[in-house]
Amino acid sequence: MSDVLNERLVAPSILSADFGRLEAETGTVIEAGARLIHVDVMDGHFVPNITIGALVVKAIAPPVHERGAALDVHLMIEDPQRYIEAFAAAGADVLTVHQEACVHLHRTLAQIREAGVKAGVALNPATPLESLAEVRELVDLVLIMSVDPGFGGQRFIEGSLDKLRRTRAYLPAAVAVEVDGGVSLSNAATLVTAGANVLVAGNSVYGAIDPTRAFRELAAAVAAAR
Ligand code: DX5
Ligand code: ZN
Repeated sequence: MSDVLNERLVAPSILSADFGRLEAETGTVIEAGARLIHVDVMDGHFVPNITIGALVVKAIAPPVHERGAALDVHLMIEDPQRYIEAFAAAGADVLTVHQEACVHLHRTLAQIREAGVKAGVALNPATPLESLAEVRELVDLVLIMSVDPGFGGQRFIEGSLDKLRRTRAYLPAAVAVEVDGGVSLSNAATLVTAGANVLVAGNSVYGAIDPTRAFRELAAAVAAAR
């Protein structure tokens, strides 16, 4: 894991993978070069959809770690502070909570780091960057949602590009900037230029006919961006 977050990365999101074959699906993209696997946890309350919990993270963590990749767990759930230790024990390497879901965000971020995991905070499209003013020194990663969370395959919200530029300028250099939602080959380089260094890609990798090729093309675009 170490400092993988400070590199330019494409993080395939298993939300668009075949949930009956998660070991094979994660193996495919790791083989293609992925070092970070994005896992979307949804509770049917914070977002309208329900996905998976810590038990599934625990099941996929050993093969992902054995192949040299890390798990980036995006908690789209209410009261995430109740589940931090469970996800850390399950093998999460990064835990990202939503600013909108945390009444005591400062405490929750400390709780994540105390669990030995990198701490991330996510902002919905309608949430201002400035809401992070008092915690920006306390996070390892800021995730800018470029769709309203809940589903894969949605259209990128164009205003997110300017938000990414402002985010990169607003945060200490050591904090990673992740963008999630509607990432594709057509916007990947622009997103990196705007300041994102971790690009989540669900549909554009696992929805492709050839996920290996799709991952490699995205990774090449990200690497070549200026
Ligand atoms: C959406 C999730 C995303 C999702 C992105 O709420 O947080 O991680 O997998 O999917 P795409 O890349 O298909 O927009
Ligand atoms: Zn996500």
